[in-house]
Amino acid sequence: MKRAIKPGLEMGFDDEGQGIPLVLLHGFPLARAMWQPQGNALRGSQRVLLPDLRGLGETSGFDGIPSIDQMADDVAALLDHLQIAEPVVLGGLSMGGYVSLAFARRHPQRLRGLILADTRAEADGAEARTNRDKMIALVEKEGPGAVIEQMLPKLVAPATLSRRADVVTALRRMGQAQTTAGVANAVRALRDRPDSTPGLRDIRVPTLVIVGEEDGITPPSAAAALTAGIAGARQVVIPHAGHMSNMEQPAAFNEAVREFLGGLR
Ligand code: MLT
Repeated sequence: MKRAIKPGLEMGFDDEGQGIPLVLLHGFPLARAMWQPQGNALRGSQRVLLPDLRGLGETSGFDGIPSIDQMADDVAALLDHLQIAEPVVLGGLSMGGYVSLAFARRHPQRLRGLILADTRAEADGAEARTNRDKMIALVEKEGPGAVIEQMLPKLVAPATLSRRADVVTALRRMGQAQTTAGVANAVRALRDRPDSTPGLRDIRVPTLVIVGEEDGITPPSAAAALTAGIAGARQVVIPHAGHMSNMEQPAAFNEAVREFLGGLR
């Protein structure tokens, strides 16, 4: 569904199931549909909330270039809109993880647990920022389809790319459905995001770090640094998965999430 959740923001989101809310934030250049395997598996035992981040999917109706902090505030606004006052479990993959870390910094009292999948705490370095500028030029010249084509070989493990047409098609569809401005502005938000490393020590909720064994964008070494930085965090490495671990190996991903949620009850 799509609703005006605050002045100047129309948000696309799914809200299904009952129980402790689990909010899952998608990666770039994707949308909430990437969480379909988790929504299907978990909404029988859990309230699952899947928002589209500002400028991507169906979330629109605002002015200016979004920031990762603003995206975190949008999630808080969605919780207000749905009158969810109890602390939630927040999970994010990659860009969704950056937003989750911003939410942990800006709204710590609203968190009951954190799931950080295929993501990192550090800001972009000089080379990464240059590559972001090249990607902005690419989308502005050739459109969102060119960006997802460039990213596909990095988003998934080689075996997923050659053998899992369902996963590749779903990623391609999500990427192609974006707007040029939405993708360009999301890249600006990624490029300009702050370093979340100093805030890791302030995270006081149970935290699960998940990473695909073959993730080439945010590799297991980045996950290990996150895990080491957050008191009591636990790490799960998903075999035979790249960056999109939740889509590539949904059974293993869901099992890790279920076990984590079980420990919070
Ligand atoms: C993502 O999957 O959200 C992006 O690859 C994140 C990034 O490029 O930093």
